[in-house]
Amino acid sequence: MIEFEKRFSDYVRLINDAAKKYVSSASFEGRESEGLKVMLEAMAYSLNNGGKRIRPMLTLEFCRVCGGDFMKAVPLALAAEMIHTYSLIHDDLPCMDNDDMRRGRPSSHKAFGEANALLAGDSLLTFAFETALSAPEIDDRKRCAAALELAKAAGCSGMIAGQVMDLANEAKSVSVDEIKATDRLKTGKMIRVSALLGCIVAGADEEKIKAAEKYCENIGLAFQIVDDILDVTSDEATLGKPIGSDSENEKSTYVSLLGLEESARYARELTERAKSALDIFGCEGEFLSELADKLSNRKN
Ligand code: IPE
Ligand code: IPE
Ligand code: MG
Ligand code: MG
Ligand code: MG
Repeated sequence: MIEFEKRFSDYVRLINDAAKKYVSSASFEGRESEGLKVMLEAMAYSLNNGGKRIRPMLTLEFCRVCGGDFMKAVPLALAAEMIHTYSLIHDDLPCMDNDDMRRGRPSSHKAFGEANALLAGDSLLTFAFETALSAPEIDDRKRCAAALELAKAAGCSGMIAGQVMDLANEAKSVSVDEIKATDRLKTGKMIRVSALLGCIVAGADEEKIKAAEKYCENIGLAFQIVDDILDVTSDEATLGKPIGSDSENEKSTYVSLLGLEESARYARELTERAKSALDIFGCEGEFLSELADKLSNRKN
């Protein structure tokens, strides 16, 4: 357990330090102005502001368990976190979920205004690809494969499709299967690709990639279900974002359809399924197994 907590906090520190370094290297190449500075500040405000760093952690750990050097995967891990962060900035906008708090502070549009929030999100999305495609120490073939997978996961056949479906599900009755399909896209795709990036850097074989996909498919769905449970059961100080957002927006979620108890039971079942995918990694899979439990029991 102590080992787990240490590796977990080491990864968080590594990711936080790298995030600071990368975002401070973003510049406008001499075209400085007050407006541009504010936009850069908005990018840094969201990227450097807490966050559990689960997605980049998956990149690093899957790289490690597949026999790769996880330090080489840091730029790709950050690219996944940049895309995730942009998705949260846009998700909070008044035209989306209209949430005023994120990661324990005012949401980007509350701190910087809607236009800056929109542009900081756009900029993080684009910067993610710049970061991935200029990753040193990874050969061109792997960098291209990684960037392509990221684009597919983030775009209109992945996370964006899920966000569209999530909005379309508001204020209407939908089936459990439709909710699962939505969650697999809006949350699952970015979680899956985060792990896949680590596999790509490590040059993992087909069998290990399949195991990573099975693990992520299950923790991904469980992750969104727990997020929806916490929206009902937590409080803003613990969660760092508003509670009751889903019911306010009349969202259809696994929780709104099947209740808290069944949702918690299903999240636990999915977590066990995820853990059973790790056999191929032997005792090296222990961290991922504990991570699945930690995510299923998380309070924020
Ligand atoms: C929140 O993701 C959005 C969902 C996909 C449920 P996280 O719970 O990983 O948010 P941060 O990155 O820790 O803030
Ligand atoms: C995940 O869903 C949104 C993204 C893909 C960005 P939520 O809308 O439930 O995420 P939170 O609860 O605002 O973090
Ligand atoms: Mg949302
Ligand atoms: Mg939201
Ligand atoms: Mg939510």
